[in-house]
Amino acid sequence: MRRYHVTTFGCQMNAHDSERIKGMLEELGLGEAPSQQDADVVVFNTCTIREKPDTKFAAYMGEAAARKRERPGTVIAVGGCYAEAQRERLFSLYPDVDVAFGPGTIPHLAEWLGAGGFGVSRGAWGTADERTFAAGLPMHNERRFQAWVQISMGCNSTCSYCIVPAVRGREVSRRPGDVLAEVGRLAAEGVKEVTLLGQNVNSYGRDLQTDFASLLRAVDRVEGIARIRFTSPHPKDFRREVIEAMADCDAVCEHAHLPLQSGSTRILKAMRRTYSRERYVRLATEMRDAIPDLALGTDIIVGFPGETEDDFRETLEVVEEVGFDSAFTFVYSPRHGTDAAAMPDQVPDEVKRDRIERLVELVQRIAAERNATRIGRVEEVLVEGPSRTDPSLMRGRTRRNTTVNFTGDGSPGELVDVAIERATSTTLAGAAVRARQAVSAARS
Ligand code: SAH
Ligand code: SF4
Ligand code: F3S
Repeated sequence: MRRYHVTTFGCQMNAHDSERIKGMLEELGLGEAPSQQDADVVVFNTCTIREKPDTKFAAYMGEAAARKRERPGTVIAVGGCYAEAQRERLFSLYPDVDVAFGPGTIPHLAEWLGAGGFGVSRGAWGTADERTFAAGLPMHNERRFQAWVQISMGCNSTCSYCIVPAVRGREVSRRPGDVLAEVGRLAAEGVKEVTLLGQNVNSYGRDLQTDFASLLRAVDRVEGIARIRFTSPHPKDFRREVIEAMADCDAVCEHAHLPLQSGSTRILKAMRRTYSRERYVRLATEMRDAIPDLALGTDIIVGFPGETEDDFRETLEVVEEVGFDSAFTFVYSPRHGTDAAAMPDQVPDEVKRDRIERLVELVQRIAAERNATRIGRVEEVLVEGPSRTDPSLMRGRTRRNTTVNFTGDGSPGELVDVAIERATSTTLAGAAVRARQAVSAARS
């Protein structure tokens, strides 16, 4: 049997797309290889959000090309956002690539592999007009009890630093009936937790005369789904109705990822985020007031062009004021073709490095303080498997999306109550007190 291997870079949407790529290849009769070295078809699902994933891909590609010289029959396929961004030059940059496809044209991979009986021809690309939902493809789901569910593709925002709109195209919402049918199917297969995915989930449905709040309520009504998460919402579209739906729906987790990007209104404007520092803080307060125990995560960029020490201090102030439970922090990385890349006053690397260090320190201190307040409580944990660091412990996540390592029994997919005894900035530790039997019990 011929075997494939998929390496995934980037965000959850890419993780989702990779499961579909795998499902599609399995339908073509390929089996999964344990590593890139053992595969006849080597697939890279790339990301180009910052320079780092580009460089990482180059290293992986170097290895694959060397291997292909030893085994000339190997097929190398490159998909995802980097492939799309480089569509004009990908084959000349990397002459060993056989097939390339963009995030919206994944089915081409199967077409070219299938139709060519693996004697692939170097394909032309699909165009943006024929973009299809990867969600329509067969799925290879690694975790039986958790699943990604795509609700939209593309992004209509124009954040000046971001390459995503250029590579993923305009936003198109998936029909609510299709989303609900998929969630129903997943629930019937034993999935307990779904994460609804879109570049901007709260603008969902504008093209279909519906909205994200209605979708959340409908997914909440699907029998068997104990946990609903979503990512990412854009603060500009976080409406009252969505906050109310989060508060009302039992299955919607007490967790939201709310990208801040900067605490300086001046920089937010240059980023074209369309909210101010004050509006962001007001939204975070409103959400915490409406949803008891809400955990807030965020994304922050330091070193955006023109960012001064004062602007950066405003970011630190907002981090302190809001008190994030977790945060992804990034050094600004110029992306070719975006407006910010051409802005004057690019911030020197050593300034960026100094700022990210100070930011990370603050983020970690606050996250550790917030996690410490969980000590002494009992948290509902969805068990994922053995602990990554100590196989004698089990690992899972709370509704607030914190990883917990714990002693006691629990099998993957089970909901267990864990008494929290210790905390770090990113994890909790404790002991299972009892297993929850059913979803209804978990909700009572
Ligand atoms: N659509 C999502 C995710 C976008 S990418 C959203 O809007 O929330 C994830 C994060 O990468 C962004 O939130 C931003 O913080 C970061 N990012 C995007 N472009 C970047 C760039 N050019 N340099 C550094 N970080 C960037
Ligand atoms: Fe990029 Fe902004 Fe769209 Fe997020 S909302 S994908 S940061 S353009
Ligand atoms: Fe990267 Fe594309 Fe996601 S650029 S972050 S894989 S949308």
